[in-house]
Amino acid sequence: MRIGKGKAIGKIILMGEHAVVYGEPAIAIPFPSTRITTTIEETVGEVKLNCYCYKGLLKNAPDKLLGLKTVIEKILEEFNRPLKNFNIDIKSTIPPERGMGSSAAVAIATTRALFNYFEKYLSLEELEKYSSISEKIVHGNPSGLDAAIIMEEESLYYIKGESFEPFHINLDGYLLVADTGEKGGTKEAVSDVKKILDRHSGKILLINQLGEFTKQAKEYLENNQPIELGQLMTKAHEILDQLTVSNPTLNKLVKVSLENNSLGAKLTGGGRGGAMISLCPTREAAENISKKLLENGAKNTWIAYLGDEFNES
Ligand code: PMV
Repeated sequence: MRIGKGKAIGKIILMGEHAVVYGEPAIAIPFPSTRITTTIEETVGEVKLNCYCYKGLLKNAPDKLLGLKTVIEKILEEFNRPLKNFNIDIKSTIPPERGMGSSAAVAIATTRALFNYFEKYLSLEELEKYSSISEKIVHGNPSGLDAAIIMEEESLYYIKGESFEPFHINLDGYLLVADTGEKGGTKEAVSDVKKILDRHSGKILLINQLGEFTKQAKEYLENNQPIELGQLMTKAHEILDQLTVSNPTLNKLVKVSLENNSLGAKLTGGGRGGAMISLCPTREAAENISKKLLENGAKNTWIAYLGDEFNES
């Protein structure tokens, strides 16, 4: 029996979400603690999909899988192959709709699996093309950051429409990621930020400020300045909150982090739910903060060391 496989990892935006939509830089890092594997298996008949939110015929998949479904149809069309005689199985440890890159990762893992199954060479340009087809359906007007980080699997300094710059992280600190358990609202948050900026042109200064933070954050990440980075993260969260991107749950988890010796904390990704991040000075501190966050409603946490070895993970 013929089989094709494709993988993709999750991502975390450290700084610059939302501002990146307006041409400011953002920093995202790969987050291999979470990943997606797509397996294509030969069979006879209509294509069936088995994934975290749906099990059944691909043609009847719910609207929230429209991005993925469209990518699969486009690839088959391009290969000039009928959409039948294989099944798609998707296993994921990236929680969906949490701003951790699940939608881009699912499109990328599945594109890789289909190219592998049909024994076709997949260039980076093609991978980008298919992931952006899906991201446009899922997010409306994506900056492309998610797709770039998940394809590259390197820490990126990213400006929309320009080439992205991989860079080396060297920070003696632990990144704690916490899932609020609530779905994020990237599309709504992006559209509401636009409305705020359309109505109050002065608020663009907040976006510019986030851009400045991202530039400084890159230096702190490269030069091992965790205390300074933590302070910036908290300030960025306050600005994102002013832009209505946060919500009470995220604010609570940020507060609990800061009360328990975090160096700084903020929401990550689109906001309005989803996930938050907390920079911790030691593993012990990270484990303690993780415990407090879980006691205060977080549904899951992950810890990653951001020292030199992070770049090899
Ligand atoms: O929630 P996520 O991880 O998809 O992040 C969205 C990031 C935004 O800057 C809010 C939007 C974008 O397209 O970059």
